[in-house]
Amino acid sequence: MNAISKLAIVPFVSVDHMMKLVLKIGVEKFLTDLSTYIEEDFRRWESFDKTPRVASHSDEGVIELMPTSDGTLYGFKYVNGHPKNTKDGRQTVTAFGVLSDVGNGYPMLLTEMTILTALRTAATSAVAAKYLAPKEADTMAIIGNGAQAEFQAMAFKAILGVNKLRLYDIDASATQKCIRNLTGLGFQMTACASGQEAVEGAHIITTVTADKQYATILTDNMVGSGVHINAVGGDCPGKTELHQDILTRSDIFVEYPPQTRIEGEIQQLAPDYPVNELWEVIAGQRSGRRDGRQITLFDSVGFAIEDFSALRYVRDQLPGTGLYEELDLLADPDEPRDLFGMLLRCEKAIAAA
Ligand SMILES: NC(=O)c1ccc[n+]([C@@H]2O[C@H](COP(=O)([O-])OP(=O)(O)OC[C@H]3O[C@@H](n4cnc5c(N)ncnc54)[C@H](O)[C@@H]3O)[C@@H](O)[C@H]2O)c1
Repeated sequence: MNAISKLAIVPFVSVDHMMKLVLKIGVEKFLTDLSTYIEEDFRRWESFDKTPRVASHSDEGVIELMPTSDGTLYGFKYVNGHPKNTKDGRQTVTAFGVLSDVGNGYPMLLTEMTILTALRTAATSAVAAKYLAPKEADTMAIIGNGAQAEFQAMAFKAILGVNKLRLYDIDASATQKCIRNLTGLGFQMTACASGQEAVEGAHIITTVTADKQYATILTDNMVGSGVHINAVGGDCPGKTELHQDILTRSDIFVEYPPQTRIEGEIQQLAPDYPVNELWEVIAGQRSGRRDGRQITLFDSVGFAIEDFSALRYVRDQLPGTGLYEELDLLADPDEPRDLFGMLLRCEKAIAAA
């Protein structure tokens, strides 16, 4: 049988290789470098194709496709969100993605994106906080201490120097897991008995819980002036974390309004309620935090351009690492139109073997 041709090959990054790549680069450097890719792409926001992600909802969760293109590269991610999955040993969120060459349509990279999503979500949150959180912020409450939590902590430390964490989860074992994982990494950590206790003295409040309902993780009385809220867990129709009164007291910053109005905290508000687009702040076209009393809210839902940045970053890091497999993904007949002939030659080769 013929050797696999070069044109048939697509580099594939498995979970194992992704972990090794992240560790080789270093978690904090990976997050910091990735955040510069994300900022770069947010600055050229207008050059991207944008569409709200394509979501298929069920009673148990959601499966989504997230495509975008800058005219040279095309990327998409497949991602699910199933809050009950952890009960039978599965992740709430898993993902994989593809980066392709717009010129010929050929995929250039296929990669796991479960770990990469946690990294890109955390890096995006930290980028938003860089423009929105109070300058002196060194203390963050994290409510919801599941799979995403440590990544959020690491990104806020690497990018903003936040090193004091106040942790709360309805399941105390999740908080203990978080403390165990982050011990020795430069944090002062306090396990809290309630959300109320967690937010005391915090300059930044991250909510990253998973529940398929309108939850109220933060009530209005829990949010003092000057705080930055990084609301990550409310990211689907019917799935929110903040009481509506917090929203109307905050300046709200979002990724892509047509998607966030469907999926974010602002689904609780009128469809024309004024919001700020984060890319405009990053591009210097709109102010971020104005004063010390302002409550800023990053209503994160996760947008395709962040995944595009992550795919681009991974593609740029791979050469020379050996941390990928060569996947025989694309049919490549000797003569492009002879696809059927390729099948017949394979049949002959099997018969001769
Ligand atoms: N915005 C984004 O870009 C983005 C990206 C990835 C994940 N997410 C969302 O973030 C959320 C967390 O994801 P994960 O992978 O860490 O999930 P996970 O299931 O691993 O962890 C969620 C944690 O929240 C806790 N929790 C649930 N209800 C709570 C409550 N009322 N108070 C305190 N803690 C509570 C659970 O006990 C669990 O430990 C999910 O909703 C997911 O959809 C958003």
